[in-house]
Amino acid sequence: MRIMSVVGARPNFIKLAPVHRALAQRGDVEHVIVHTGQHYDDGLSGSFFSELALPAPQRNLGVGSGTHGKQTAAILERCEAVCQDLAPDWVVVYGDVNSTVAGALAAVKLGIKVAHVEAGLRSGDRAMPEEHNRILTDHLADLLLAPSRDAVANLLKEGLPPDRIRFVGNVMIDALVAALPTARALRAAERRGLTAGSYALVTLHRPSNVDDPQGLAELVGALDTIAGHLPVVFPLHPRARRRLEEQGLTARLARVHLVEPLPYLEMVSLVDSARLVITDSGGLQEETTFLGVPCLTVRANTERPITVTHGTNRLVADVRGLVAAVLNGARRQPPGARGAPGAIERWDGHAAERIAAALCANEHFGW
Ligand code: UD1
Repeated sequence: MRIMSVVGARPNFIKLAPVHRALAQRGDVEHVIVHTGQHYDDGLSGSFFSELALPAPQRNLGVGSGTHGKQTAAILERCEAVCQDLAPDWVVVYGDVNSTVAGALAAVKLGIKVAHVEAGLRSGDRAMPEEHNRILTDHLADLLLAPSRDAVANLLKEGLPPDRIRFVGNVMIDALVAALPTARALRAAERRGLTAGSYALVTLHRPSNVDDPQGLAELVGALDTIAGHLPVVFPLHPRARRRLEEQGLTARLARVHLVEPLPYLEMVSLVDSARLVITDSGGLQEETTFLGVPCLTVRANTERPITVTHGTNRLVADVRGLVAAVLNGARRQPPGARGAPGAIERWDGHAAERIAAALCANEHFGW
């Protein structure tokens, strides 16, 4: 059986790693990795392949950046050619980025079966490009690989047939479980002169937070206030860096440790020993939940509500609420508490094995 994974952006590479390992262990599968080129900087792409022990992609489609329409269309066109060339039995797509929907559409139109890893997440926010990608991809896919029960329920509510759905668990957590021992040994906080448990780690890159100049200025003010109380480390995504520079706001973050995007293991190490995380990333809402680290998500909604109901995540849509939440002392969870490791069903480090079994042996796992 030939399985072709299509990946393009940073979070895709993390989810790919455990799936690649699980497929490689089966021995009856040829796994081909196709990189669309949506992310191309080493800090967002190459470093992830080397740290996650992924082989170099067999193909790189080199699409680069562009408007949503241009980027999605370029991926669609180039993926179609690769699908025709390689004729895989399955195309596997991951998450909710433009590469996900374009890869799925190219395959389904050629009659190639599509599997979607991380199916069923919904924010209900139709202004998010990721929400368009999630809904479209799920309705194209033949196999919906859901990370949680609420995701299964979303798919059923939209009328998707039960026999397409498998509740496999969360591959982001598989990657985290595999990385933790090495990441902890790195002691990334201490190496940066920070005391474990005493600093805030920030990532913000969503258009809703960084593309509106007024909102961005307010966020910068909030981060500066927070940095007056505890050290703040902020790895800057290229989109956020560009917006800060365009608005002349970088100097107002003089008290914040602004750093380049971090490699995966260093990031895991810093998340693991942070006092709290401030973010708009999806993956970090899950990782902090698993690790029991308080997470403040700067958004009005989340496609991962289980991280709020069962985990350590809290939505803070306005900057005053953000500052108050930090200063009122978000604290880490004691072992065994809500949000501590093991709190969420099938976030257990074995999701990728279930995915491999679903793809290769049509196994069901019950939900
Ligand atoms: C994309 C995903 C988003 C995900 C994020 C993870 C979509 C619609 N969005 O957002 O869901 O959370 O990846 O990082 O797919 N750029 C570089 N170097 C690169 C790639 C991009 O400098 O290697 C810059 C370019 O100026 C580009 C901008 O970042 O225009 C945005 O990149 P793009 O891939 O369009 O979206 P992200 O914001 O990264």
